[in-house]
Amino acid sequence: MQSYAEGPVTEGDRPLGMYVHVPFCSVRCGYCDFNTYTADELGEGATRATYASSAIAEVRDDLVRVLRALDEHLGLAPDAEVTTEANPDSVTPASLARLREGGFTRISFGMQSAVPHVLATLDRTHDPARVPQAVRWAREAGFEQVSVDLIYGTPGESVDDWRTTLDATVALEPDHVSAYALIVEDGTAFARKVRRGEVVMPDDDETADKYLLADAVLSEAGLGWYELSNWARDADARCRHNLLYWHGADWWGVGPGAHSHLAGRRWWNVKHPAAYAQRLERGESVEAGSEVVDAAGRRLEQVMLELRLREGLALDALDAAGRAEVPDLRDRGLLLGDERLVLTLEGRLLADAVVRQLTP
Ligand SMILES: C[S@@+](CC[C@H](N)C(=O)[O-])C[C@H]1O[C@@H](n2cnc3c(N)ncnc32)[C@H](O)[C@@H]1O
Ligand code: SF4
Repeated sequence: MQSYAEGPVTEGDRPLGMYVHVPFCSVRCGYCDFNTYTADELGEGATRATYASSAIAEVRDDLVRVLRALDEHLGLAPDAEVTTEANPDSVTPASLARLREGGFTRISFGMQSAVPHVLATLDRTHDPARVPQAVRWAREAGFEQVSVDLIYGTPGESVDDWRTTLDATVALEPDHVSAYALIVEDGTAFARKVRRGEVVMPDDDETADKYLLADAVLSEAGLGWYELSNWARDADARCRHNLLYWHGADWWGVGPGAHSHLAGRRWWNVKHPAAYAQRLERGESVEAGSEVVDAAGRRLEQVMLELRLREGLALDALDAAGRAEVPDLRDRGLLLGDERLVLTLEGRLLADAVVRQLTP
């Protein structure tokens, strides 16, 4: 189910992104370490089956109420991008229509793969046929932007399986695609399976081949890369909220475990939904911790994030030692550009190493 909704509001003349973290999922995917809880984990209430569907229905209506409150208290920009993430299994034509009428403009579906055995390894419950249906419903409801999230490099996924997923993605005619290599997150059920040898992660060469295939198939279909793991139909279809993160702008996260950043200060909320609710009931702050990022930390982040963008990184964001490394990276065919440094396709495969070299 969806885990957040976002939309820039204005604070003075600085854009401010908002996201609302919804910490409920009907089933926990083994690989995911987001701060979400299933009915079983939260305890109490009706049976798991009825709780899950009623909670989803309630959250969907609540999202519209939250959006209305954000608008009332902070003032949404007139052309704000307002996204919700959604598990394809948890939407219906009626729920999508309610969200659209309530002001949501963009939806991002957790498709992950079009291949049943890959979905099964990821603990995803949806039938691959559900995705084109959900996308069609979203279009019928009037969503202006429809995006899908993909994961590649799942154990057992062949290059042909990945091609099947990419072909199915292109057939959806999405406005936007995110494709991330599967990350083994510590503490997840999936990490335990990897440790026990029950599943084997693919080697880096195969993962690189899958990235190249994704870029070739998506580009051919008119979806151009604008961030290392994100492709869009055109500049208007880029995710404005994520661009705000990648440019180190300000955002405010609402909900249990949500992170925020305002003018160099970061803070994060208490993680558990019950603790979060209790603090609010008592009129206490929900903040669990905070930090102020110093200039060196901000520079490192800027290099890491902006180098992933198609617009590239301004050369003067580098210190003298970093600038001295640029000719070598150009000679090795990993970087292009003068005033702005842009990764080549080869450089995109080695982005982490390029960042390390530029931040000695
Ligand atoms: C927080 S999820 C929300 C989407 C929605 N809840 C769903 O899963 O259908 C956002 C996206 O992050 C990606 N993701 C989550 N965990 C990941 C992991 N361990 N490795 C790679 N991608 C991951 C998935 O593609 C997922 O769709
Ligand atoms: S990836 Fe799975 S567990 Fe994680 S937020 Fe999405 S539906 Fe929930």
